[in-house]
Amino acid sequence: MITCSAPGKVYLFGEHAVVYGEPAVCCAVDIRTRVSVAPADSVIISSSLGTTGIDFETHPYVSAVVERFRELSSLKGVSIRIVSEIPVGSGLGSSAAVTIATIKALDALLETGLELDEIARMGHEVEQRIQGAASPTDTYVCTMGGVVMIPQRKKLELIDCGIVIGNTNIFSSTKELVSNVAELNESFPDVIGPVLSSIGKMSLVGEGSVNSKDYVSVGKLMNINQGLLDAIGVGCSELSSFTYAARNNGAYGAKITGAGGGGCMVAIAPRERVGDVADAIASAGGDVVVTEATDIGVREESR
Ligand code: PMV
Repeated sequence: MITCSAPGKVYLFGEHAVVYGEPAVCCAVDIRTRVSVAPADSVIISSSLGTTGIDFETHPYVSAVVERFRELSSLKGVSIRIVSEIPVGSGLGSSAAVTIATIKALDALLETGLELDEIARMGHEVEQRIQGAASPTDTYVCTMGGVVMIPQRKKLELIDCGIVIGNTNIFSSTKELVSNVAELNESFPDVIGPVLSSIGKMSLVGEGSVNSKDYVSVGKLMNINQGLLDAIGVGCSELSSFTYAARNNGAYGAKITGAGGGGCMVAIAPRERVGDVADAIASAGGDVVVTEATDIGVREESR
């Protein structure tokens, strides 16, 4: 049996603006999805969602990866077991992580010798097949790990402080939120255009602060980014309440991560204040995940 894992991700800066070609900064976080594979006579996929064969309802990403490997190799049967720490459908990159970890595990089992950039590319193709449209961000960050500026694919210094995620558990459709922002931009281009380009500038200024490990400045920029995300209509009262709870209890800064409208927020905090920030978000009604940035992208854990 071979086990591979891949991390989730948060956006430090730049979601939504990145859709308009502006830079964004993403950070792999140490909550991981583990995928174990072993030879078998038929395809068996098991996870907390149940045990299936190739099944595009229950296990769409893993099923698509298996089909892709059938084109590349003589694969007939395989047993695949998925265990994930990443909450599903909350903008933390759970689908990218399961896709990338499965690709790496099958690559190891079948000795197809894929390079990391080929794994990232295949992962993006699988996400596009399943979702219709997908940005390459999640699959790239989850493959490579670390803090990455996109679309440049430039690695920044690893964030060396606490990261606290607050999940609203409110469903948010990335597609719908991206289209709401597009509508607002069409109605008020002279107002929304500069907001989106300011968000892009935040990523460029933030790059310097991340690289110099100036987390007070990173936090201030995240707070400004949050204001601008609110301005383009992707906030909600729960996300606001969690971000203020975090800021009032020692976080350097806090903002939505991902599409917004629900989903998750992220705070960065000095390690000694992480407990206070986590408690404050939980008291405001959030499901809390305390984590750290990780340089470890997809990797083989054991065989
Ligand atoms: O919530 P997520 O992780 O799907 O992030 C969406 C990020 C957007 O910038 C809003 C859309 C995109 O494809 O980049």
